[in-house]
Amino acid sequence: QSNLHEGYKLYPLRANDFERGYLDVLSVLTEVGDHTVETWNSQFQFMKKHNDTYFTVTITDEKSDRIAATGTILIEHKFVHKNGLVGHIEDIAVDSSHQGKKLGLRIIEALKFIGQLTGCYKVILDCSVKNIPFYEKCGFTPKESQMAWYI
Ligand code: ACO
Repeated sequence: QSNLHEGYKLYPLRANDFERGYLDVLSVLTEVGDHTVETWNSQFQFMKKHNDTYFTVTITDEKSDRIAATGTILIEHKFVHKNGLVGHIEDIAVDSSHQGKKLGLRIIEALKFIGQLTGCYKVILDCSVKNIPFYEKCGFTPKESQMAWYI
């Protein structure tokens, strides 16, 4: 918290973040689709039920009470590494009007901390080549390659 620019606050995802424009922030990433408060609630409740697996954090711009940035870490349970846990960072998004203020970095730091606290032996993510320098600044190093199969 102390490292955030003044006027910003870090929170776990909250039930009423739909009204704070949470999905608008995600739209910097990809198509979000036409949501209603009901479709939002059903996904929010699913994640809440699995709150040892899904951890979403947000940064709110306190003045406007709107979401400025978000990110998620998913905790995967494995047999390897003696029932090891792996953290997967997903859906990092900073609203375009708030980019370049270290909010992305703060989100990643918070997610890395959650990964450590939950006992993960590593935290990994997929990103575009253009975002590699950002993740390097966040302490990540390139490893192997990403593959995708779209349905
Ligand atoms: N290229 C080079 N350096 C970069 C870039 C970039 N594309 N983006 C940020 N940086 C650097 C900054 O200059 C800063 O460096 P400094 O400490 O030397 O000043 C450092 O990385 C931290 O930058 P932040 O200010 O925290 O970056 P920001 O808050 O703008 O967040 C982000 C970066 C998340 C990439 C944001 O621009 C964004 O939301 N982009 C669109 C969506 C996106 O691409 N999300 C990531 C998808 S990958 C995933 O979700 C796993």
